[in-house]
Amino acid sequence: MAASFDLIVLGAGSGGYACALRAAQLGFSVALVEKDKVGGTCLHRGCIPTKAMLHAAEVADSVRNGSQFGVHAAIDKVDLAGVVSYADSVVGRIYRGVSGLISARQITVVHGAGRLTMSDGRPIVTVAGQAYQANHLVLATGSYPRSLPELEIDGTKILTSEQALRLDRLPTSAIVLGGGVIGVEFASAWRSFGVDVTIVEALPRLVSGEDSSISAALERAFRKRSINVITGAAMSGCRTAESGVRMELADGQQLEAEILLVAVGRGPQTSGLGYQETGVELDGGFVRVNDRLQTSIPQVYAVGDVVSGLQLAHRGFAHGIFVAEELAHQAGVLEQAPTPIVDAEVPRVTYCDPEIASVGLNEDEARTRFGDSETITYDLTGNGKSQILKTRGFVKLVRRPSGPVVGVHMIGARVSELVGEAQLITNWDAFPTDVAGLIHAHPTQNEALGEAHLALAGKPLHAHG
Ligand code: NAI
Repeated sequence: MAASFDLIVLGAGSGGYACALRAAQLGFSVALVEKDKVGGTCLHRGCIPTKAMLHAAEVADSVRNGSQFGVHAAIDKVDLAGVVSYADSVVGRIYRGVSGLISARQITVVHGAGRLTMSDGRPIVTVAGQAYQANHLVLATGSYPRSLPELEIDGTKILTSEQALRLDRLPTSAIVLGGGVIGVEFASAWRSFGVDVTIVEALPRLVSGEDSSISAALERAFRKRSINVITGAAMSGCRTAESGVRMELADGQQLEAEILLVAVGRGPQTSGLGYQETGVELDGGFVRVNDRLQTSIPQVYAVGDVVSGLQLAHRGFAHGIFVAEELAHQAGVLEQAPTPIVDAEVPRVTYCDPEIASVGLNEDEARTRFGDSETITYDLTGNGKSQILKTRGFVKLVRRPSGPVVGVHMIGARVSELVGEAQLITNWDAFPTDVAGLIHAHPTQNEALGEAHLALAGKPLHAHG
């Protein structure tokens, strides 16, 4: 007989476990099916370990650059196995925390690979021959690192980001194929550890999802850090040799390095899981959903990276909470229906050095949407705390003509920490005068946001205008 629940969540990554936790809190009986460890890509192979590695990279840079601050120190060695073990310890603590929350909320964790099947005309989940049925199902099976047909990922010379995170020895040189978020984060960390890095990007600029001014500033900063950046480049061939990897570009350039990281995007994990067979419609491999994350089968929902759009852990959390609350609303437990999650309102952070953080529309998008836009760029040179940190960068605001601020784009050390206020500004449709009237503590980098709004409101303080 099939075990029965109010809700079954397939996949215990950010989207899946958030959905399970919130649903249990709302009084549903929940089964969470996971073939690996709860926490998923973000916790075990993505956000958390990469950010730990990037923090270690920042420590290396601080030591290397200490003399600029009157602190003379030298790096003895970078022990990558030590970095990995530090990252593992962070992951382990968070894993224990999340597992504890799941068991405290009495969620049934089903260990094993789940598959969607039909029983009496209703979709159910089968794990190792055991059937589990529920009133509602949530697909949260995440994404996997994409590769290219001409590249054979061997895990030693040609690697995915997941394999690169497990390296226990630093290469002397690396080619990073793809200058998107993963590519620039690894390039940045490896360079800080002393690796010779070349980024090969097919598009004309790095981080092409960002405002073009951010891409230009990142490229300048990377070149200053001696990261070799090749944009608008097409790979025409790649082979492994004893010493590493040889790549040829369409313009004839030959590149050689000890390893190649393939960072050309992540694909949705939706095949071989019975989705299509049970009638869940896919679109380009992603699960097709309406704006309430409902699939083509009314009692089945999808959250996180299987849903086309920004592949970010915090979007997954938000999706998961949304679906739990949607079901609670339908069941009469919550009076109000939750507000749908809109990608344009989701903050984005890239943790390279310098960091990038943004929310809302970039200048080109605003022009397309409103026919025109007003922008202002406040240089971090005018910000005391940024001077103390010796970082360079800017805060760029995009405003609907005579209207609210619709986009905030930032680059510079630690700007990730400013994205919280930035998202309040764009998501609450603040006008420049609203923010200009707020007091920002001195000396913080947060002041740069205040100063940019003062300038956009026509009364710049620490800026010419
Ligand atoms: P991405 O889509 O951000 O970047 C892939 C890049 O590879 C693009 O710039 C693309 O033009 C380039 N590319 C594709 N084929 C190529 C080829 N044949 N030759 C050269 N370049 C090629 O994907 P990425 O960086 O792999 O990241 C995957 C997902 O994970 C993204 O959606 C990202 O947002 C997410 N992620 C987010 C992080 C964060 O928020 N800090 C950290 C890591 C990943």
